[in-house]
Amino acid sequence: MSETREQLEHDVRVGLTDDPPWLPARWFYDEKGSLLFDDITGLPEYYPTRRETEILTAHSSDIVELSGATALVELGAGTSTKTRLLLDAFTAGDRRLLFVPLDISAEVLTHAARTIATDYPTVTVEAHVADFSQELGVLPGPPGRRLVAFLGGTIGNFNTADRAEFFGRLRRAMAIGDHLLLGADLVKDADRLVAAYDDSAGITAAFNRNIIDVVARELGADGLVADDFDHVARWNPHKSQIEMWLRARQDVEAHFPTLGLTWRLPAGGELLTEISVKFTLARLQAELAEGGFRIVQSWTDEAGDFSLSLARAVAGQDR
Ligand code: AVJ
Repeated sequence: MSETREQLEHDVRVGLTDDPPWLPARWFYDEKGSLLFDDITGLPEYYPTRRETEILTAHSSDIVELSGATALVELGAGTSTKTRLLLDAFTAGDRRLLFVPLDISAEVLTHAARTIATDYPTVTVEAHVADFSQELGVLPGPPGRRLVAFLGGTIGNFNTADRAEFFGRLRRAMAIGDHLLLGADLVKDADRLVAAYDDSAGITAAFNRNIIDVVARELGADGLVADDFDHVARWNPHKSQIEMWLRARQDVEAHFPTLGLTWRLPAGGELLTEISVKFTLARLQAELAEGGFRIVQSWTDEAGDFSLSLARAVAGQDR
């Protein structure tokens, strides 16, 4: 875990005492949670990773050309298959590229920097620890020539207000002429959406419950046991989002010694652990415009399940 105990304590104090109680989704990703997420990306029901890979396979060279970028800034870890598809396109014909992976974890970054530098001799890697829920400062790389990639559909983990703030913060860290490459999952049949977050092998259930183990371990809480919760995935049509909840199988009474907090959840009570908003292209376009970006092109996979949008950072009046 790279984030501080104080942040987790703050999130527990604020989130668990709210009605309904909630926890930020970033606490899923300890080592076990990250491995479980990797397993999720290969599940038959979980289409987003495959669809985004399909789009990148078809359009990476379009992205290179349309963006005119000489620096690739990636938000989140940068060694995945998807990152490599972009790096392959950017370095075709031995072209040089500045690659800037940004992540909250120094360990993840060290690994990314080493692996990519070894595999791509014409790539200069400049890794930075950054928390993109905070102000980003000015990004490394030549102004107007950067491509900022935010893949995987992680934008869906933000609610409407947080998304607006995020796009604004990102835009302030960028210059006019820089581009954003944004992966976003699209609205579709509710049954398929629910299945993608409640797979038959129970991997997503284990991933969801793992947040309980993370919190209990990191804060030394007792009375907080993953097995006391059922995984629930639900489609909320009003908010156009999948919601993952943990439902108490029995009365829960957890003690957080460092917080002086006793948290109770009665049997059947629910804790919200993640939202995953599903978009239309029109909504994305409107939100990006509001944030200071104009979509140059959007692509979807053949089935129209997932989208990748290339958007240019523009001046206020050019939205
Ligand atoms: C990594 C945020 C894109 O919302 O689909 C997968 C996380 N949660 N299954 C998503 C997730 C449950 C995933 N993102």
